[in-house]
Amino acid sequence: MKEFKNKVALITGAGNGFGFEIAKECAERQMKLVLADIDENDLEAAVSFLKEKGAEVTGVHCDVTLDAEVQKMVDIALDTYGSIDFLVNNAGVAISGPVWKLPLQDWDWIIGANLMSQVYAMRRVIPIMLKQKTECHILNVASVAGLITSNGMPAYHTTKHASVALTESTSYDLQAIGANIRLSVFCPGFVQTDLHNYERHRPERFMDKSDPYYSSPDYYSGQKKAEFVIRTGMPIDSIGMSVLNGIEEDQFYILTHPIYSTLIGRRVKDMLEGRGPDLSVLRG
Ligand SMILES: NC(=O)c1ccc[n+]([C@@H]2O[C@H](COP(=O)([O-])OP(=O)(O)OC[C@H]3O[C@@H](n4cnc5c(N)ncnc54)[C@H](O)[C@@H]3O)[C@@H](O)[C@H]2O)c1
Repeated sequence: MKEFKNKVALITGAGNGFGFEIAKECAERQMKLVLADIDENDLEAAVSFLKEKGAEVTGVHCDVTLDAEVQKMVDIALDTYGSIDFLVNNAGVAISGPVWKLPLQDWDWIIGANLMSQVYAMRRVIPIMLKQKTECHILNVASVAGLITSNGMPAYHTTKHASVALTESTSYDLQAIGANIRLSVFCPGFVQTDLHNYERHRPERFMDKSDPYYSSPDYYSGQKKAEFVIRTGMPIDSIGMSVLNGIEEDQFYILTHPIYSTLIGRRVKDMLEGRGPDLSVLRG
């Protein structure tokens, strides 16, 4: 996408972190904005901030784990501005815990938030974009965790690898029909956001804490580890600019942390040569 002015951006998880940074950069480029988030207070603050800066912006309270709420979000965007040119599927959570301990409700939650949210939005928005015939772009926020794997977060890796695969395969399908819709997948490493505070975004229907896992050392150590890696990550200030520059340059994979290139390359080489994951490589 080369022209941004007056185009409509619909951004999920826009109340905080990456979503808010991307929204600020879209506002700089004079786009009209629809911001969606499950957190009403953060959403309200983000909308007010951007309105004060002179942006044309609408906030929608939305839990992206629910198809009906995503449908409502898309309807509001379309009713308000008449088109959707840039969809940013950013909302997500980062739950840790080994597969033999993590309660199934947490799997349902993270798959809903990180993967199905992107499916719901793309199912709704792509037909709208195809009808519009304008130059459109969809950005799925995955992670470098979608390009490599590590210990401690199998559910997070699973959803992020799926997000990368969803974006890649949809790109083929859109090319096959000659659509004017470009795709990108954002794959950053750790960045200082509120991602480790994911518990405050737990939807009502995943609130049952009767499983002993929620009072176990595994649960607390997973949260502590997440907090450490996020707090010591890259500062967030350049994220909006990196993403929008990537979109402008039609980059498919948008990466921010060159330090991971070795691990990405190593994984591909291991796959081609039949070697499995080796914890000592990660620890080294
Ligand atoms: N921060 C990092 O180091 C990092 C690295 C790679 C990828 N990511 C990805 O970036 C995306 C944004 O994360 P962030 O780091 O900005 O974290 P964040 O917690 O600061 O922002 C996430 C936003 O998503 C919203 N959200 C969560 N669940 C939702 C739901 N069910 N419905 C609607 N909104 C919901 C939250 O309210 C919040 O505003 C996530 O997909 C995350 O996996 C983050």
